[in-house]
Amino acid sequence: MRAHIVTYGCQMNEYDTHAIRSELAGIGYSFVDSYKEADLVLVNTCAVRGKPVEKAQTLLGELRKEKRQRGNLTIGLIGCLAQLPEGQRMGKRFNVDIMLGPGAITQIVPAIERGRFQSFEFDNELRFYSPPPPTGSVSAHLTIMRGCNHRCTYCIVPTTRGPEVSRHAEDILNEARALADAGVVEVTLLGQNVNSYGLEPGTGVRRARLEGYPSFAELLRMVGRVGIPRVRFVTSHPINFDDDIIEAIADTPAVCRYIHLPVQSGSDRVLKRMAREYTRDFYLNRIKKIREFLPDAVISTDIIAGFPGETDEDFEETLSLYREVQYDMSYMFIYSEREGTPAANHFDDMPREVKARRLARLADLAKEISLERNQEWVNHKVEVLVQGPFDEEGMSLGHTRGNHVAVIAGNLDPGIHQAVVAHATPNRLYCIEALEDAMLDSTV
Ligand code: SAH
Ligand code: SF4
Ligand code: F3S
Repeated sequence: MRAHIVTYGCQMNEYDTHAIRSELAGIGYSFVDSYKEADLVLVNTCAVRGKPVEKAQTLLGELRKEKRQRGNLTIGLIGCLAQLPEGQRMGKRFNVDIMLGPGAITQIVPAIERGRFQSFEFDNELRFYSPPPPTGSVSAHLTIMRGCNHRCTYCIVPTTRGPEVSRHAEDILNEARALADAGVVEVTLLGQNVNSYGLEPGTGVRRARLEGYPSFAELLRMVGRVGIPRVRFVTSHPINFDDDIIEAIADTPAVCRYIHLPVQSGSDRVLKRMAREYTRDFYLNRIKKIREFLPDAVISTDIIAGFPGETDEDFEETLSLYREVQYDMSYMFIYSEREGTPAANHFDDMPREVKARRLARLADLAKEISLERNQEWVNHKVEVLVQGPFDEEGMSLGHTRGNHVAVIAGNLDPGIHQAVVAHATPNRLYCIEALEDAMLDSTV
């Protein structure tokens, strides 16, 4: 039996795919690179913006054709899109065999065995795997919580992933220890909003007080002691990014000083309409605190261009915030209306050209600032985690503790290498491996 899995979306989906692969391997599946050779195709979908939904739709069209031609293909539509009415309509239209939302993703094996199995209830018992460490990879993901209790008006994730549920700390630590034993060098703790780890589902009361769950800051310190040299985490919400988290990062050498703190907009008016729960000043204060305790931190963000009602002045405020923070890197998106979200229900979308023009301006600014920030690294030492060969002959590809993409001369073994930055572009640091005695002090 041969399976092919296609994954769209965020790192949570990549983690789920990894877990599903190990479950399928357990019942005798091998994996192939093309759906043409597969008996089972799973499409692990994302619904956060229009683009990944269109991609899934195109693929399902091709799969329906393939199935008609040969008759013996099982198709599964799983993940975030499967949880939505839009995805369920698509599943019927393209005649898929299995539909499974992310709330019951651990039911994949019974779903395959029973055929058309659908589960769209969020069952907290069914939400977490403990997959074995990945083979042949120096990095791994580790989900610590699922779902989101925020209600950003543009966002479909609370609907697809349901309310927040935190995984028990002991399970997290066991999985981290297994990764350390397997020689994994970098672990990324995953959740939609990892900062609120340990809150009681529904009430939002800190669970630690109720039943011995640590806070996120405490959890960071615990995972930091397991023996994995690099510990990262995504994503943070500014409103939950408390001082104790900054202190834990500062105190724990294994925790990378890389902070992804999505701002979405620099305008208070837009932030309010987005229901982001903070103001521009509050956000800038968080950045100030980070810079104070972690002067060498690398900071990145997410920004949405063209949220409904965003004026030119609002957008200028986003650009000015960007300049003020001096982000090292960023992820920028054109607002994409999502069926069923409060923004789609209450606000009017704006012409695509306006959104695209704003995104282009933001991208230009981001490029300029990233280049300046990256050039500051030239002639400085960085730690590069090499993952494998780079496209160009005789070069290897990796990333720094600060999450810069790093290209390093030589065919180096996967793992940690000390290097010096020779040249920088907006998206990359080009490095040469450093000799032991040439090492300077650096944390990034
Ligand atoms: N929980 C994380 C990630 C959410 S999705 C967080 O709160 O940051 C990742 C990013 O996608 C968001 O930060 C946001 O910038 C973007 N995004 C979400 N919904 C969107 C939409 N409808 N249109 C455009 N971008 C969106
Ligand atoms: Fe979406 Fe907001 Fe939750 Fe992030 S915090 S997943 S943007 S609702
Ligand atoms: Fe997409 Fe679901 Fe992640 S909607 S971004 S795959 S949580």
